[in-house]
Amino acid sequence: MSFIKWQKEFLTGLPEVDQQHQKLIETLNLLHFLLSKGKIQEEIREILHFLDNYTVEHFGTEEKLMVQHSGQIPRDLKERHFREHRYFIDRIQEFHGLLEAYQNGEQEKEALLELFEFLCTWLCEHILGTDKETASHLINIQEEASLAPQGL
Ligand SMILES: [Fe+2]
Repeated sequence: MSFIKWQKEFLTGLPEVDQQHQKLIETLNLLHFLLSKGKIQEEIREILHFLDNYTVEHFGTEEKLMVQHSGQIPRDLKERHFREHRYFIDRIQEFHGLLEAYQNGEQEKEALLELFEFLCTWLCEHILGTDKETASHLINIQEEASLAPQGL
């Protein structure tokens, strides 16, 4: 079970998005700590609940930016980005179903470890791939806007 170290490669250049990514990674590391201490039940459920809500909020931030600048982001990139977010939400729902069904014991522990691995792998790949690619388009748009003649 790996621990995610925050690194500058994760930076997209969009401050709000970067802060949210950092918070997500901190939360995953807290989950890692609790799992490694063998803590299950309440504390972990609370973290998962927080992650659910925070992820939805975070996806909302990114999706709003993509919608606002819809014309300047390649359509296939935007569609892939939305699709990846939906896939993530669907997988998390599946894990919730499994955790509900298991309730206690060894199966629950295994499902939690599997969930943790999924969260880490998906988040790192998504930030380093689709998020950074999208951010580079959004930053270009901002730079072009700041170079445009003012007051015309
Ligand atoms: Fe994203």
